[in-house]
Amino acid sequence: MSAAIASIPLLFLQINRRKTMTNFKIEKARCVTRTGWHGNAFVLPAETFGDAAGEEIILQSAIADGVTLTRAGTLADWRTRVAMPCAGNSRLVLALSAAFAASCLGMMNAEGGGIHFRGGSSSGKTTALLAAASVYGPATFMRTWRATDNALESVASLHSDMLLPLDEIGQLEPRAAGGAAYMLANGTGKTRSQRDGSTRAAARFRVLFLSAGEIGLGDLVREGGGKVRAGHEVRVMDIPAEPAGGTLGIFERMPEGVTPGQFAEQLKRATAEHHGHAFAEWLRYLTGNADTARTALRTKADELLKQLVLVDAAGQVRRVAQRFALIGAAGELATDQGLTGWKSGEAELAAYVCFRSWLKARALREARRTQVRRERLHPQRAHPRLGQQAARVRPQRPQIARRQQRRR
Ligand SMILES: Nc1ncnc2c1ncn2[C@@H]1O[C@H](COP(=O)(O)OP(=O)(O)OP(=O)(O)O)[C@@H](O)[C@H]1O
Ligand SMILES: [Mg+2]
Repeated sequence: MSAAIASIPLLFLQINRRKTMTNFKIEKARCVTRTGWHGNAFVLPAETFGDAAGEEIILQSAIADGVTLTRAGTLADWRTRVAMPCAGNSRLVLALSAAFAASCLGMMNAEGGGIHFRGGSSSGKTTALLAAASVYGPATFMRTWRATDNALESVASLHSDMLLPLDEIGQLEPRAAGGAAYMLANGTGKTRSQRDGSTRAAARFRVLFLSAGEIGLGDLVREGGGKVRAGHEVRVMDIPAEPAGGTLGIFERMPEGVTPGQFAEQLKRATAEHHGHAFAEWLRYLTGNADTARTALRTKADELLKQLVLVDAAGQVRRVAQRFALIGAAGELATDQGLTGWKSGEAELAAYVCFRSWLKARALREARRTQVRRERLHPQRAHPRLGQQAARVRPQRPQIARRQQRRR
């Protein structure tokens, strides 16, 4: 009797469990290791925009502090207090346009790369980076170069298809500088071994990075004993932070009655109070209108490219011009969507002005390199007095000496 009573709750439990088992639905989720486009969906740590084809996509990352994409204030106030005051300032408009362009690289099959603002201290470089970062989130969205390349790789995976603002290039280990630039621009991390000896797939990402510092990448590579290659210059576009002939640091136009220093402080305060909304709106537009956005970007970028370079421009110049053209086009499209409050053509003009600055700085570097080469080969032409001394001691080249012997 007692055994029969004891078995009743047991039976009830078993029936109940069976019921639960039949009601249990297996939910599948796809784990991804980088942010950004996965099919038609754009994945962020806390939300996914667009059509994930019925799947749940979860972002897994090894980075503890993740990526800060929080929102504060309102889009309207961000537009009037951050974006609109930037109009007329080529570097600031370029930085904000780059923030919008970063999510378009994948859609346009464009390669990653970076823009580096090189200029003196307290000229407004970090302010420009903060303004661009505010499209996405607060100041903590911005990172510094002070990181090992392993950490940089993980950070890049969390900024994939997004802007990666990296301040203070001077803090990067000089010997790692060239490699870090290639790694970020090419979008592939290192291949590593696993515990069992097999190789782990290398991290893949796609970033547009915005960098700043008092020195250029080339200076840092040379400081580390390396050689600056054309590949570096194409991947990281070094732009003088201060426009030629300007006296306002990175700025060219400011609100009336405001000094450049005050303008920088106003912008920083505004980015702290209003951020994050523009990116969410931008993603809503891109994911909801991918085909239209792609066509508009292609048309605008092609038009701008024609104004930047001739069809037969050198390969390296054309490649850089393509990146500037896409940045300008993204800025224009963001303006068309009512995100920036700029007048039409503002982003294109900024891309044009900054591309000319890059070109001029490159020509100066080339001229300097040619001069150094010439000095080595023909010291008498470069420094007449020094050259006379050098010519006296310089041995004749064998074929010249032979020719002279024959004449005698
Ligand atoms: N163009 C400018 N002219 C004068 N003062 C400026 C200018 N830009 C910034 N400042 C002042 O310098 C402060 C720091 O600005 P910011 O961080 O943007 O400079 P930075 O160029 O990044 O300097 P650093 O190279 O030292 O990091 C600002 O709070 C402001 O007071
Ligand atoms: Mg700074």
